[in-house]
Amino acid sequence: MIRRAGVEQIPALGKIINDCAEYGLMLHRSWAYLYEHVRDFHVAIEDNQVVGVCGLNIIWANMAEVYALAVAPAYRSRGIGRRLVLSCIDEGEELGIHKLMTLTYEGKFFERCGFHVVDRQSLPMKVWSECVRCPKNQACDEIAMVRVLDVPDIAPPPAEPPGKYEVPVPLVVRAGVKSQNVD
Ligand SMILES: CC(C)(COP(=O)(O)OP(=O)(O)OC[C@H]1O[C@@H](n2cnc3c(N)ncnc32)[C@H](O)[C@@H]1OP(=O)(O)O)[C@@H](O)C(=O)NCCC(=O)NCCS
Repeated sequence: MIRRAGVEQIPALGKIINDCAEYGLMLHRSWAYLYEHVRDFHVAIEDNQVVGVCGLNIIWANMAEVYALAVAPAYRSRGIGRRLVLSCIDEGEELGIHKLMTLTYEGKFFERCGFHVVDRQSLPMKVWSECVRCPKNQACDEIAMVRVLDVPDIAPPPAEPPGKYEVPVPLVVRAGVKSQNVD
């Protein structure tokens, strides 16, 4: 059974993700991150336990990222990974998202899920925001893949006006170093 994750499943889905992270297959996720992003996750339940997980992160008006996809080793090759991705596709379509992307080493698997390889440079900059946390940042060898969903593309929104009470985020936050935009 595939379902949306609840907070009670965070320890189990976190273990599946972080076991894979030990092998360099994906980023490690702290429990703090996982609880904060619990609404991203779809889980596979078999034998009364969480055996697979997949996250869907909204990037922009027309794009979302499939991430942290992992199936427990004993449950692989049974179609669970594909069902998790299909569940994210269903959610993306419900949300009106035009395109899903992923960064992966599992090109063949994602091809079976309807994705195709694209030039990494074609993806929006925001996709790379997490790469600073990745030890392979300077030598990333993941491939970029996308799948267009059954939702029309929408015109990109106009540039966002600054909020009246918006506090500028310091570009450099270090003792003794002035930030570039708080002076
Ligand atoms: C990648 C992973 C999620 C696949 O999950 P799975 O449940 O074993 O995959 P499925 O059984 O749903 O496979 C779906 C299809 O992809 C194919 N496939 C799955 N893994 C494959 C691989 N490594 N190479 C080639 N084909 C693969 C299957 O043969 C199947 O093909 P079919 O359409 O002909 O039936 C799983 O192997 C895993 O957790 N790996 C470790 C974590 C990881 O690398 N995650 C990806 C990070 S982006």
